[in-house]
Amino acid sequence: MAVIETFGLTKRYGTRRGNSVLAVDEVSIAVEQGQVFGFLGPNGSGKTTTIGMLVGIINPTGGSFRLFGASEPQDLVAVRTRLGATLETPNFYPYMTGLDNLRVAAAIKGVSRPRIDECLELVGLADRARHRFKTYSLGMKQRLALAATMLNDPELVILDEPANGLDPQGMREIREIIRILAGRGKTIFLSSHLLWEVERTCTHVAIVRKGRIVTTGTVAEVVSAGTAALLRAEDEDALVAALEEYPEATSVQRSDNGVVVALTSGDLAALNRYLAGMGIHVSHLAPYRQSLEDVFIDLTEGDFGSMTEIAT
Ligand SMILES: Nc1ncnc2c1ncn2[C@@H]1O[C@H](COP(=O)(O)OP(=O)(O)OP(=O)(O)O)[C@@H](O)[C@H]1O
Ligand SMILES: [Mg+2]
Repeated sequence: MAVIETFGLTKRYGTRRGNSVLAVDEVSIAVEQGQVFGFLGPNGSGKTTTIGMLVGIINPTGGSFRLFGASEPQDLVAVRTRLGATLETPNFYPYMTGLDNLRVAAAIKGVSRPRIDECLELVGLADRARHRFKTYSLGMKQRLALAATMLNDPELVILDEPANGLDPQGMREIREIIRILAGRGKTIFLSSHLLWEVERTCTHVAIVRKGRIVTTGTVAEVVSAGTAALLRAEDEDALVAALEEYPEATSVQRSDNGVVVALTSGDLAALNRYLAGMGIHVSHLAPYRQSLEDVFIDLTEGDFGSMTEIAT
């Protein structure tokens, strides 16, 4: 069963000067029960806006969506009780302990004390629950937010950039919690601009660019949709020049190991014949497994405002 379905979902923000920004442009995706679905895109690509529409705090300007099959406003209110979402780090009280902060959230949601303890246990904060929120590290704050999201034991968990700003250890902790939730059969929809996070955490992915979906599928499908080859030749400059002229080549890049060419078809024999015809004899020619990162970069080329973080 599809837990989330969107049909041409669109959001255009009006601005004060009378211009408008098309933040989400006809997004159509389906998230099935039990999937860990990564909504991956550079900064400003419309991730938060899409999530805002799903959780009901932003009104779409076009298209529609269903949650658990419901699409009418009154039905959406009812099914949203089966959903837990974290948008930004919620407003916890800094002078109150983590536990007391969760008690406040639990009172609003009508959740009992044992469930609070379970959620603290889940996010690894049981030991620090009686410490004040303001003493928490960023990673602990994000985990407390996750605990608050899980209080009502939602079937669908929506997380906007859960690993944002965390160090590798903090990211690993979040990843571990997501794994546990997935193991319990939860459906998880998370946004990220960190593609290795998505590659490690998610079963499915949609890559979004400037509000539009550029590709979607299982992580393996999205990765294998692009074929590439690694080549080596004595005269690398001549090899690169020839590859750049090859009609099936979509990108040519030098690497430490040789030259990587992305291809529209996986016919390496044809590539070899072409190069031989150009008088280039390769010492190495093999399929090259692209990572999600390669595919993401191919698909979102030119929007690298956020990508510097990858190097760090
Ligand atoms: N309230 C608003 N009014 C006008 N424009 C907005 C508003 N909120 C977002 N935008 C614009 O809509 C586009 C998408 O923004 P959004 O926050 O959804 O992207 P995002 O993918 O979540 O980005 P990030 O990775 O930075 O969180 C951006 O161009 C942004 O400037
Ligand atoms: Mg955002």
